[in-house]
Amino acid sequence: MLKKDWWKSAVIYQIYPRSFQDSNGDGIGDIKGIIGRMEYLGRLGIGAIWLSPVCKSPQKDNGYDISDYQDIDLMFGNIEDMENLINEAKKYNIRIMMDLVLNHTSDKHRWFEEARKSKDNPYHDYYIWRDGEEGVLPNDVKAVFGGSAWTWEPSLKQYYFHQFLPEQPDLNWENPKVRKEIYDMILWWMKKGVGGFRLDVIDQIAKEPDLGITINGPRLHEYFRELSKETFQKGDLITVGEAWGADIERAKLYSNPDGSEFSMVFQFEHIGLDQEEGKEKWDVVPLPFLKLKEVMSHWQRELHNCGWNSLFWNNHDLPRIVSRWGNDKEYRVESAKMLAILLHGMQGTPYIYQGEELGMTNVRYDIEDYRDVEIHNMYKARIEAGYDKEDVMNSIYAKGRDNARTPMQWDDSENAGFTDGTPWIKVNDNYKEINAKSQVDDENSIFNCYRQLIKFRKEYPVFVDGDFTLLLADDENIFAYKREYAGKSMVVVCNFYGQTIDMPLTEECKDMELLISNYAKGDEAVLRPYEARILSLIHISEPTRLGMIS
Ligand code: GLC
Ligand code: CA
Repeated sequence: MLKKDWWKSAVIYQIYPRSFQDSNGDGIGDIKGIIGRMEYLGRLGIGAIWLSPVCKSPQKDNGYDISDYQDIDLMFGNIEDMENLINEAKKYNIRIMMDLVLNHTSDKHRWFEEARKSKDNPYHDYYIWRDGEEGVLPNDVKAVFGGSAWTWEPSLKQYYFHQFLPEQPDLNWENPKVRKEIYDMILWWMKKGVGGFRLDVIDQIAKEPDLGITINGPRLHEYFRELSKETFQKGDLITVGEAWGADIERAKLYSNPDGSEFSMVFQFEHIGLDQEEGKEKWDVVPLPFLKLKEVMSHWQRELHNCGWNSLFWNNHDLPRIVSRWGNDKEYRVESAKMLAILLHGMQGTPYIYQGEELGMTNVRYDIEDYRDVEIHNMYKARIEAGYDKEDVMNSIYAKGRDNARTPMQWDDSENAGFTDGTPWIKVNDNYKEINAKSQVDDENSIFNCYRQLIKFRKEYPVFVDGDFTLLLADDENIFAYKREYAGKSMVVVCNFYGQTIDMPLTEECKDMELLISNYAKGDEAVLRPYEARILSLIHISEPTRLGMIS
């Protein structure tokens, strides 16, 4: 028997604070804004909020460049606001997970300011330096946001290493003092009542820059186990490591049921499927449906009983799912619900990214309306390299991180109810049609589909503990699977496209009842565009037919 952890039946909601709710009219979301929306989140039924970084930061990478781990950025509020948030959330049984950026700090962090003063400064060895000559890079390791991973520090005649922006120098995890400082900081947050942590690019902390090893370095899991033992294991926390480089074998370590590392891992195999092999994320190829089924079911099967999956479609770095695998035009509502049903029927802990529960969509802005440094760096590099402007813009429409970062759409008033001021990034102009106000009281809304699914996960153990069998593996339109647990079973069947097709699996589902669907009752022998059903042998009295107009 696996240990029953609270986060196995909970659903987590990710908030990107600067885009969630502004409370003081400066156009930037803040902590008070989040507190003001707690009732909405309580209504949805989530168990925890993963808060993207709110610590002090020069905001070169929207808070993923932290200059003080133990203070809140003025733009978002202060420590007292944070404490209030933790306490307010508690009233709704919601815990607060913080985003821990441990691979790097801001170059304005006190440690780095000291480190760059001299080679014998006690903080020098908190970062990674190489002697050298100006203009002769130590090697050709590239930074994720473009350019070299090495930046010259003239006063020291040394290069420092950074996997992201030059303003995000990498910490030297080999230095035990660095690790100790980090543990103390985490324990300090735990004492404040934080309920968990999401660990930013955690597979990049153990590196061998000279060998070009930037992920999955040799000491990675050693560091994880020490980190976990010194901090997380002293509380009842949910922890999730972000790991673009995790394969199944590693994920089993990350999410080992013995609790020696983290609760679970964000792996991205299903996310990278529309990227041309060996190229950058901007080199988009058509979405391969059979591959999606294969990849997702592989993870379901492999981690069953020996690890734990996180389930997610989008986050602040990824495009909106309804614009990606769904249809954000005529079947926006149906396809958003279908994608929700498909994901929430699987084993693991689901993560909802703000606005996903409303079916928010991607945007197509002019280049000057984007704010993300990654978008602008790529745009500049590709235009200089002679790419066609239209192709570059199409890549941004498909993959740009700002797709997810436009303000939350609360209502149909100006700026979607996000701010009384000028929003830091333009609001998606479909806010009059797509907003929370029009959905919360509508029982057929996408919002209420999510709410229902969250409820099911708490009520029916088969959602949490059931094993997983992929059905119809070769079907080009349908994603279907079966979950079984303690004599109970359920079948999830989803039409992934816009045509009406025959409903297969009639034998399989013979005595089953409908638990939820995204359509009104109709011909059960067919699946309408993007139709999704969960059928089960779990006894419930009334099926939930979202989309039902009775
Ligand atoms: C992660 C974050 C991303 C950030 C990067 C550097 O991938 O999700 O937003 O830019 O790490 O910290
Ligand atoms: Ca504000």
